Amino acid sequence: MSEVFPRHFLWGAATSAHQVEGNNHNDWTEWEKLGLVKDQEHSGLATDHWHRYKQDFALAKDLGHNTHRLSIEWSRIEPRPGEFSAEAIEHYRQVLMELHRLGLKPIVTLQHFTLPTWVARQGGWLRRKTADHFARYVLIVIKELGSLAQYWITMNEPTIYTTMVYVEGYWPPQQKNLWSAWLAIRNLVTAHRLAYQVIHRHFPGHQVGAANNITDFMAWRRHNVLDQALRGFAHYWHNQWWLDQTYLTQDFIGLNFYFPHWLKFRLTTPIKVFAPHHPPRLPKNDLGWTIYPPSLGHVLDWLKHYQRPIIVTENGIADASDHWRADFIRRHVSEIEQARGRGVDVRGYIHWSLIDNFEWREGFGPRFGLVEIDYPTQKRTIRPSAYAFREIIRQHQAP
Ligand code: BGC
Repeated sequence: MSEVFPRHFLWGAATSAHQVEGNNHNDWTEWEKLGLVKDQEHSGLATDHWHRYKQDFALAKDLGHNTHRLSIEWSRIEPRPGEFSAEAIEHYRQVLMELHRLGLKPIVTLQHFTLPTWVARQGGWLRRKTADHFARYVLIVIKELGSLAQYWITMNEPTIYTTMVYVEGYWPPQQKNLWSAWLAIRNLVTAHRLAYQVIHRHFPGHQVGAANNITDFMAWRRHNVLDQALRGFAHYWHNQWWLDQTYLTQDFIGLNFYFPHWLKFRLTTPIKVFAPHHPPRLPKNDLGWTIYPPSLGHVLDWLKHYQRPIIVTENGIADASDHWRADFIRRHVSEIEQARGRGVDVRGYIHWSLIDNFEWREGFGPRFGLVEIDYPTQKRTIRPSAYAFREIIRQHQAP
């Protein structure tokens, strides 16, 4: 018999605007025109969630969820500097009201990787001014929609964003430069703090956090000093630095956890040094990421010292055949249950993702959804693992 999670424990799934809405116009849609996304795909209509959100939320409801995490697209709210779209605001009002009608608590992310084209053209996160622009956008959203959600996430995975754009040069605007990475992450810290203040000025009781990508770094050769040193540095840089800067302005820590990184020291470019190794004996998802749930437990134990409630804001698997997903969820929820038993204050599990979607530079190939999308027809089909998740929720819910 499993431990019963508290009644208010959040169970649900997440999406992000650019990955599901369709017909966005932002820095990513501009960059997609270069043909660098896998198979030269464009986000295009994506899952047409902009028009089908009611249908998608109804599925979440049927699947036993009590929360839903989504993001608001800055480029839709403020298509031109200082010009705010009443139509877009109204759309998101309807979206949030629909969630309330269904009894799904909204968790709203204010920025999930994309930028309005005018912000990107001015230098994006390399400029301090972007943090002020962001705070102005957040102010409008909060004034208009603040009363419709209690949980707010200022931004999604700032450290991943910085790494992908400025360290690896893999995402737009592909500027591989460590000094730029430093400028960007510092401006993201500022933007997060400003947004936190803006939200709390209007709604002191709201819960505000960030969705932080935290992973479990391990030495590939356990007793090798160089691997150990690399591990320590990666942990500090990727996990700790950002949280040390921001945990006082996070009412809850949003945790996005996917897979652990085994690191092996090599005399090569710094970027390659940090490339994770995946032990051959462990199973992998469709993107080659190792499936290893105990790492979630390690991360939760480490997060405990920040003394903040934790919500797992993303955890998921690219698994087109749906072979691994149910067990993946079961084992990660079990890690949460055990961590709660050790006194870690975890308050929610949000699966990535409710529906298949546009996986950034990997295009539409990877399938992360509890619900499958047939892109040519936009038909939704519930995967068996979604029912397994519903059963897991039922078993863990307080009567
Ligand atoms: C991001 C999502 C992405 C998922 C799977 C997370 O890092 O927040 O946007 O789809 O990982 O790669």
